[in-house]
Amino acid sequence: MASAPRRPLVAGNWKMNGLSGSAAELARIIAGTHDLTAVDLVVCPPATLLAQFAAAARGSAVRIGGQDCHAEPAGAFTGDISAEMLKDAGASAVIVGHSERRSGHGETDADVRAKVLAARRAGLLAIVCIGESRADRKAGQALAVVGAQLDGSLPDGASAADLIVAYEPLWAIGSGLTPTPDDVAEMHGLIRQRLAARFGTAGQGMRILYGGSVKPSNAAELMHVADVDGALVGGASLKAGELLSIAGVYRQPPVHSD
Ligand code: PGA
Repeated sequence: MASAPRRPLVAGNWKMNGLSGSAAELARIIAGTHDLTAVDLVVCPPATLLAQFAAAARGSAVRIGGQDCHAEPAGAFTGDISAEMLKDAGASAVIVGHSERRSGHGETDADVRAKVLAARRAGLLAIVCIGESRADRKAGQALAVVGAQLDGSLPDGASAADLIVAYEPLWAIGSGLTPTPDDVAEMHGLIRQRLAARFGTAGQGMRILYGGSVKPSNAAELMHVADVDGALVGGASLKAGELLSIAGVYRQPPVHSD
């Protein structure tokens, strides 16, 4: 059975950047979306700005997301934020399992899976990050490592409406380095295969984003690789012009080599 075409999505991960004055940048992003009708745009500011950004984006084409959530809906978890709280603040998506959470906060695949379930419980779209380290790639283990992360981080019963996978090689994040289009194609092809094998038609419909040093200058090349359905953008998403230019790749129909 043929699956529905996947609508591309570009998400900006602001990480620990942004103060209340950054609302002006969000306003510029919103103002630039009028001709971006073929791509979903999500901005994930720090939690302190979520409610303000969600209010500013209401009625626009931009959706607002969190950068992490706790697996429990509420309780004695000092400093943590639940998926329900993100939803309540106006978020419609949440990034889970970002490598900076996995490495800096010791998050395991099982932790990430629990967070994906929390996102589903709260009605948030989960953007689940996976990716190999430089050492993994050098050792020829990239596909095995990412495959295992994918299997371990995704819960059963996931659907294209509640889950997106973001492939982010750790060595590409914030480094200015990117994998070759062939390497991206190989990895996204493997992820697609495993999603389809596990989730059937739903797996065919799930979007797979590429992340790691995406910029206006390399976005077209990366986004036109088969099975790349958009981007998770860090540094470049802090500037409205750069984020819009990356999303602008989807103004033209993608050119696939076959
Ligand atoms: P970068 O970050 O675009 O700055 O490399 C991507 C990410 O960590 O999501």
